[in-house]
Amino acid sequence: MLLIKNIGVLQTPVGSFKHGGEKQGENLKLKNAAVLAEGGRITAVTCDGALPEGWEKADQVIDARGCLVTPGLIDCHTHMVFGGYRQGEIPLKLRGAGYLDILRAGGGILDTVGKTRAATEDELYEKTRAFMDEMLDLGVTTVESKSGYGLDRENELKMLRVNKRLAKSHKMELVSTFLGAHAIPEEYKGRSGAYIDMLCEEVLPVVKAENLAEFVDVFCEDGVFDVEESRRMLEAGQKLGLRARIHADEIEEIGGAVLSGELGAVSAEHLIATGERGMASMAKGGVIADLLPATSFYLNKTFAPARRMIELGIPVAIASDFNPGSCPSLNLQLAMSMGYIKYRMTPEEVLTAVTINAAASVGREDRLGTLEVGKQADLVLWDAPDMEMLIYRFGSNLARTVIKNGEVVKS
Ligand code: NIG
Ligand code: FE
Repeated sequence: MLLIKNIGVLQTPVGSFKHGGEKQGENLKLKNAAVLAEGGRITAVTCDGALPEGWEKADQVIDARGCLVTPGLIDCHTHMVFGGYRQGEIPLKLRGAGYLDILRAGGGILDTVGKTRAATEDELYEKTRAFMDEMLDLGVTTVESKSGYGLDRENELKMLRVNKRLAKSHKMELVSTFLGAHAIPEEYKGRSGAYIDMLCEEVLPVVKAENLAEFVDVFCEDGVFDVEESRRMLEAGQKLGLRARIHADEIEEIGGAVLSGELGAVSAEHLIATGERGMASMAKGGVIADLLPATSFYLNKTFAPARRMIELGIPVAIASDFNPGSCPSLNLQLAMSMGYIKYRMTPEEVLTAVTINAAASVGREDRLGTLEVGKQADLVLWDAPDMEMLIYRFGSNLARTVIKNGEVVKS
């Protein structure tokens, strides 16, 4: 049994559902609080200096010394399995080449595809494991991980097997997404429809049979997959029981957000260029907006219209988008600060975005994302007295102690 006492402020959203509109900004704040956990679950939460009943039986006691405690952070959008890096693209970018120009010229994602195909499963496993260690150290206790740098049967499956092995072996929880439709591979240049057919007929059934992913995703973008191809890909996944998420309106608004609402996707992601029609469709379909501010920063783009989304009642999540091209940072704390400053979200709204809404975006809202009795004991003790301090100190790692499933994984 684990007791955490002397918590200055315990701050958490409440309830096992995605929080949109005004609810986005509603957090419970308990002063001078304590948490008791047993068997990986929270069994009691108290405040105002009271200790939970039965605390004497705790065999492990952590003194929080008055600090802030929140649920473990959930990073609901990453491309963290990849070969090599792409630091060579930055000078091109600074000379004016656009993200899609680089991709069309065979660079960008396709460059990483070459390096990922050349890597063995074990190499990718080791590299990604180290990234997960780094994330855990930053207070991230659950992560979503997409395939999408294999772009053929063998290599997409290789990436997903890395996900599966890490999900089993790592202390952090991993949610796997099949993103075979991340780019059009050289072998299918000019034949994107045939590539989608191949993914649906030859890869998806194996993903399903071997239980390699819970979600299906697609890069719906100008010059990549259009709306109809995206619809086909996501519907094929949905038919097999995978839930849909979509890279929508990252660079151009071609209708991805509208599609997400029509398909009842769990989330639409990026949304830098999304307008009113897309947002209306998302609101109607109950789609979560997974926003990725560090990518806006790194691509030198504008920032997604987060305030308008909240106004429309769309639940907003914030994630890192960690990948070797558009966002080589896995620091979710940094993305939180950007949500504060660039999206103008309040500290409470930001916390909801990286906890319960992110949990809902990965289908884990029943078990993760809040600090309540019955939920999994995933928590972070911060080197900060409150949320305001945590997101104000951008760029530093303020995670002091990280607890995953009732176990101290960083102290
Ligand atoms: O989310 N947009 C597509 N995929 C990634 C970028 C991947 C890459 O550049 O390697 C993203 O930004
Ligand atoms: Fe992405």
